[in-house]
Order: sequence, then structure tokens, then C-alpha cells
Amino acid sequence: MTVSSRTQVGIVGAGPAGLLLSHLLALRGIDSVVIENRSRAYCEARQRAGLLEAGTVELLRAVGLGARMDAEGLEHGGIYLQFEGERHHLDFRDLTGGRWVTIYAQTEIVKDLIRARLAAGAAIEFEVSDTEVGELDSDRPVLRFTDSAGARHEVTCDAIAGCDGFHGICRDSMPPGLIEVAERGYPYSWLGILATVAPSTDELIYSRHVDGFALHTMRTPQVSRLYLQVPADEDIERWPDDRIWAELRHRLGVPGWDLKEGPITEKAISPMRSFVASPMRHRRLFLAGDAAHIVPPTGAKGLNLAIADVTVLAAALTSLLREGQAAQADAYSDACLSRVWRATHFSWWMTSMLHVDPHADRFEAALQLSQLRYVVSSRAAATTLAENYTGYFPLTWASLPESTRGRGITRGPDGAAGAGPGRAARTAPRPLRSRSGIAAR
Ligand code: FAD
Ligand code: PHB
Repeated sequence: MTVSSRTQVGIVGAGPAGLLLSHLLALRGIDSVVIENRSRAYCEARQRAGLLEAGTVELLRAVGLGARMDAEGLEHGGIYLQFEGERHHLDFRDLTGGRWVTIYAQTEIVKDLIRARLAAGAAIEFEVSDTEVGELDSDRPVLRFTDSAGARHEVTCDAIAGCDGFHGICRDSMPPGLIEVAERGYPYSWLGILATVAPSTDELIYSRHVDGFALHTMRTPQVSRLYLQVPADEDIERWPDDRIWAELRHRLGVPGWDLKEGPITEKAISPMRSFVASPMRHRRLFLAGDAAHIVPPTGAKGLNLAIADVTVLAAALTSLLREGQAAQADAYSDACLSRVWRATHFSWWMTSMLHVDPHADRFEAALQLSQLRYVVSSRAAATTLAENYTGYFPLTWASLPESTRGRGITRGPDGAAGAGPGRAARTAPRPLRSRSGIAAR
């Protein structure tokens, strides 16, 4: 027997994109059903992103999700870039007129979102199977799935959001021939660890070493997160803990600095890929987040893009479903893709500049080093990195509560709120001040 029901928006995937979309829609009085093929515990423990752009932080605050992030998140005003055995600091606040980033793990955002949605009485079905989306050429698309008890469901929707990540089913459910893909593979992967030890740095260290890239990031004042470039098809069994620490010490080391070691609680290898599918919409099926695009993690953009997509999508669906206005839904794909391509370029650029390509010759290696030297010696080049890293495009969320204004939220010419301190700084060019190590214009 099939259980039939009705909702306004069917959401596939309880990652950050699907959960936040459900939350944003609820704030506008729109019902949704979220279905997820993993368990709640799995979703809350899956180790992934950690770095939030200022605009992402402002948005989460503005929609009532900032309390724990503000208490536990670690605000960073810059990063270290390391190469040829020297560590250089980039001061984002100085370079961008005050912008910053925050370390707050994706696991914690997902926990905050699940708790908020369930407290509001939302429907999240975990551990579903055989998800399908159908009737996509109509104004009443249908979501079908089998729940964890084995009952088959058919939910008639006004719209469906495919927030089901890179390996989900929604992208492939688009009509054949509609989607165009632009992609790039990279001849290396990241081995990431989580270790119970205080971070050995106050801000992230991105290190290009002749033996491969390394990144020192963190989760809390007691937990470090570190990554090593490894061959694309590397076997994790080849990396016992001692070898990982030795290689991290080797690639991150500079005179007078020590890497603190501690028990490794998690260890995994992630492939690197750039992938953009367009358009991100067919009639009333909308793709958001990793379902539509993937970036290599070097630029820390994937989660931020997923959050940006659903912020645009929530406004578009509100206009479509409450006012019958299709203009924002029609503009959804293009609006997202301009941000996606900026992040795709930035992530590719950071990745190519910092990793050792096993097929590269001396010419390419010399270009990388020349680029790195330029970034740490030219204020213009450093600013380019800083404004992309902290988030180039502002997020807009039209019904921000009064209390968030004046905390980096600015108003655009249309009266729409822009989350993040960037909008005013970008639209009104401001003089650049010189600082030691970075030349003035
Ligand atoms: P996902 O998080 O993949 O969620 C999709 C959900 O859909 C999953 O829960 C999945 O189980 C579910 N699903 C799939 N198929 C189905 C189905 N058929 N039916 C029902 N449910 C389904 N980004 C940053 O911004 N900053 C960083 O610092 C950063 N670091 C990263 C480090 C690493 C090592 C990696 C791997 C990624 C990193 N990212 C980072 C990227 C970021 O984690 C992703 O972009 C983000 O998870 C995308 O969110 P999403 O909701 O679109 O997709
Ligand atoms: C992380 O904290 O996991 C992280 C931070 C910055 C990156 C990638 C990952 O570029």
C-alpha cells in the first residue's frame, strides 16, 4: 500500500542545504517535507566542512541559528600562506575593510538545524530508501520513497528541491539532454584527520611543500583538523598515524614552530573535483548545493555555496508559491551560477597554486611559486585572495529581523538586506592603506 500526502515543498537530502531550506521556508510560512537516506546520527557525525564566510555567519544569525555558533565558533581575521619554508600572514580585515571568517564545523550546523526543525514540529524522514521524483513536467511534482518501517510514500508537492548532494538522484532525474556539465579532475586527493589536541596555530596554515600540500585547520580549542595531499587513488591503509604526523611535521614545519600531536579520532581520504551542472532547475525541480556543483575544498567554498543556493531558492519559492510570481524562480539558476562560477574559479586557483601536480614540469612549479610570491608581496593580489576567501557575493535575505542590523548586515539599493560586511565595501571603492609586507597601490 502507498501512503499519499501533500506538502508545498518536497526536499530530498538532510545535509546543510536541505535542512536550511526547510528552515527558511518555515520562516516564510511554507510547509516542507525533508527525506534523507541516512540516519540522524550519521548526518550529525559526517566530518566535512569547517570554514564559514562572514555572509554565511550573518545569515545563520539572522534566521535564528546563531546562538551556539556565536558561543563556540572561532572567528579568524586571516590565514597563513607557507611556501619555500617561510610562513606569511594575510590579514583579511585590513585587506578587505573588516571582513573575516569563522570556524564552526558542518556537523554542528547540521545538529543545530535538525534540532531547530524538530523543535518546530517539522517532518524529517531519516533512513528512507528508493527515493524517486516524478511528474516533473507538471506543476505538481511527486516525491516517492520508502520509509524506515518499509511503507511506500507518495508526496504531491508544489515544488521539489534536490539537495541530495553529489551522488543523489535529483540531478539525474532531470530530462535527458537538459543538463550541461563542466568539470575538472585533479591528480591528487586529501587525507583528512581529526585529532584531540589543541591547534598549533591561531589561524589556518595553507602550506605548499615540494612533497605536497598540507593544511592545518581546527574545530575547537581542543580539537585540530589537518589535511595532507596524497595521490588520487591512495589507500588509507598506507597511512598509519605515525606516518601522518611525520609528514605533517615535514610539510608544515618552519624554524621555531612545533606541531602538537594527539590521538587521531577520524581519518579519511576525499577526492578532489570541480563540477558544475547547469541549469539548476527544470520547471518545479530545483537543484541546490553539492547536487548541482562541487569544488575542491582548498577554497573552503562548498558549504558556503550550498547555503547561498538555498537562501536564493527560499526567496524564489516564497514568491512563486505565495504570490504566484515566477520571476525569481526563473532567475534562480543564473543567480546561483554566477556565484558558483566565482567560487569554482577561486577554488581551482587556490588548488592549482598550492598542490604539487605529479605531472607538472619545472615551468609549472616555477609559475606556482611566482604566483605565491606575488600574493604575499602585492596588496592587490592579497586583496583578491582575501575578498574571494571571505565571500565575494553578498547573501540576501529579505526579512531579516531588526536585531541583526548593524552587525554587518547592510541594505542594498532595492532595500534587500545583504548579509555580510562586504556589500558596502564592494560597491563603494575605498582607498587602500599600506601595511608592512604588502605594497600599497
Ligand atoms: P550534502 O552535505 O552532501 O547533503 C546531501 C544529503 O542528501 C546527504 O545527507 C545524503 O545522505 C542525502 N541523500 C543523497 N541521496 C539521497 C536520496 N536518494 N534520498 C534521500 N537523501 C539522499 N565547504 C566549505 O564551505 N568549507 C569548508 O571548509 C569545506 N571543507 C570540506 C572538507 C572536506 C574534506 C570535504 C569533503 C568537503 C568540504 N566542504 C567544505 C564541502 C561541503 O562539505 C559540502 O559542499 C556540503 O556538505 C554540501 O552540502 P549539501 O547539503 O549540498 O550536500
Ligand atoms: C576545514 O576546516 O575543514 C577546512 C578549512 C579550510 C579549507 C578546507 C577545509 O580550505
